[in-house]
Amino acid sequence: MRNWSGYQTAKRDLIRTLSGTVLEIGAGSGANFADLPDHVEWIGLEPNRRARARLTRTAAGRRVLAAGAEEIPLPAASVDGVLSTVVLCSVGNLPATLQELRRVLRPGGRFVFVEHVAAPRGTWTHRLQVAATPFTRRLDRGCNPARDIATAIQNAGFTTIELEHYTMPGLIPIPFIAGAATN
Ligand SMILES: C[S@@+](CC[C@H](N)C(=O)[O-])C[C@H]1O[C@@H](n2cnc3c(N)ncnc32)[C@H](O)[C@@H]1O
Repeated sequence: MRNWSGYQTAKRDLIRTLSGTVLEIGAGSGANFADLPDHVEWIGLEPNRRARARLTRTAAGRRVLAAGAEEIPLPAASVDGVLSTVVLCSVGNLPATLQELRRVLRPGGRFVFVEHVAAPRGTWTHRLQVAATPFTRRLDRGCNPARDIATAIQNAGFTTIELEHYTMPGLIPIPFIAGAATN
């Protein structure tokens, strides 16, 4: 378990490892632009109409796709990197979505992820996450805070995975993972 004070730096450093053509799924309003290397050819994907309108403005001419990560309108092996920050909690079918990300990533391509995840079963945080899920799914664009995203990534067939655990402190401490996987 890493100290929360290192989380922002770790996130920025991971994003900076991306190169070539990079697909950012659930790009929101483009909060990661500041950390992406200048030489990256960025493509954004955002299914939410309002967020996409903001993203299109921030993206300043870069390509923005109107789609969910479950069905990406790009050919197989067409990108060098995929970036996901706090998105996999919301996708419809997580294992199928991870296969879709692997489909668009070229062999050897890099998947960088920073996600909030389920707390260990049996903890109060996990019980609260499960109890909150019906509300967050309805009110927070499908977010399921009790999703075991780390295990899903580990089972998705990537060649290598580096992953660190963090906990955001607070009344209800929120577990995060940050890492990268090679296709
Ligand atoms: C918590 S926001 C994170 C936004 C951005 N990635 C960031 O770090 O600031 C989650 C984003 O995922 C998007 N999203 C929800 N369901 C999605 C799906 N099925 N496929 C791709 N993105 C999705 C939402 O519209 C929203 O923009």
